[in-house]
Amino acid sequence: MMKKLLLTAILMGLTSVTLASEDEKASTPAWESDAWDTELANMPKGSVAKGEKLANKGYCYTCHGEKGIAPTGNAPSLAGLTSPWLYKTLLDYKSHLFHIDNKSLVMEAAVQPMSKQDMSDIAVYYATQKRPAGEGKIKAPRKVRKCQKCHDTDEPDEDDAPSLLGQSAQYIERQTEAYKHKVRRTEVGKSMHKAVKKLKKKKIKKLADYYADQ
Ligand code: HEC
Ligand code: HEC
Repeated sequence: MMKKLLLTAILMGLTSVTLASEDEKASTPAWESDAWDTELANMPKGSVAKGEKLANKGYCYTCHGEKGIAPTGNAPSLAGLTSPWLYKTLLDYKSHLFHIDNKSLVMEAAVQPMSKQDMSDIAVYYATQKRPAGEGKIKAPRKVRKCQKCHDTDEPDEDDAPSLLGQSAQYIERQTEAYKHKVRRTEVGKSMHKAVKKLKKKKIKKLADYYADQ
């Protein structure tokens, strides 16, 4: 009897979680700049050791690689991205703001059981890993100057746009297209969308190949 009651309670609990997230998917509002500033100011202090444990427990390495360098272009490399950036993307998956298409579902599901403390631990763990490096053979396309106004600037700052150096070309292309078409709704403001809204597909591909090779 107890078991049956417990099971019903669990099932009911799960159903309401599922409904809530379906709701959120459609209605999560974009970040207001103040709201993000407050969220970041309240980011719990992370532990690298706990983050490593959580990453192992969550099988993150199967797609993102040992130490955050992705083995295929399918998933992004996480190594050496800043902790505020990694923390933000995990929050964005949890609220379903970061929902491009079905390919985003694996991450939306992975973060559901995580607390903000877990997310911060994971973020600082990957942030302390060494960034991947490409061969540096591809000549810089002219348009890259535009990206360099915000990405990988000379004086990097924790709040900067995420680094693109050594990132998967497939991932850079997918994300740039998603900002261009406003399918990725994670921006605080619209600077990324504005920067790429007129970029042709071919130019985006060239930039992605260039960055992946850095
Ligand atoms: C089955 C493969 C898979 C697993 C397992 C997985 N991920 Fe992902 N992850 C992805 C894919 C694919 C994307 C890109 C999704 C998209 O484009 O919408 C992604 C994106 C991300 C991003 C966004 C990075 C950025 O710069 O935009 C973070 C952070 C991340 N994953 C962390 C994790 C963590 C932490 C775990 C373990 C708890 C994990 N992932 C497990 C496949 C996976
Ligand atoms: C005005 C500043 C600005 C310019 C110019 C800019 N970006 Fe961005 N970019 C950003 C910001 C800010 C983000 C993070 C937005 C968010 O929170 O979702 C971002 C995110 C991205 C991402 C997602 C990375 C990840 O790990 O998920 C990619 C890819 C990207 N930009 C590519 C480009 C390319 C290619 C160019 C040049 C054509 C460019 N950006 C120009 C500000 C800029």
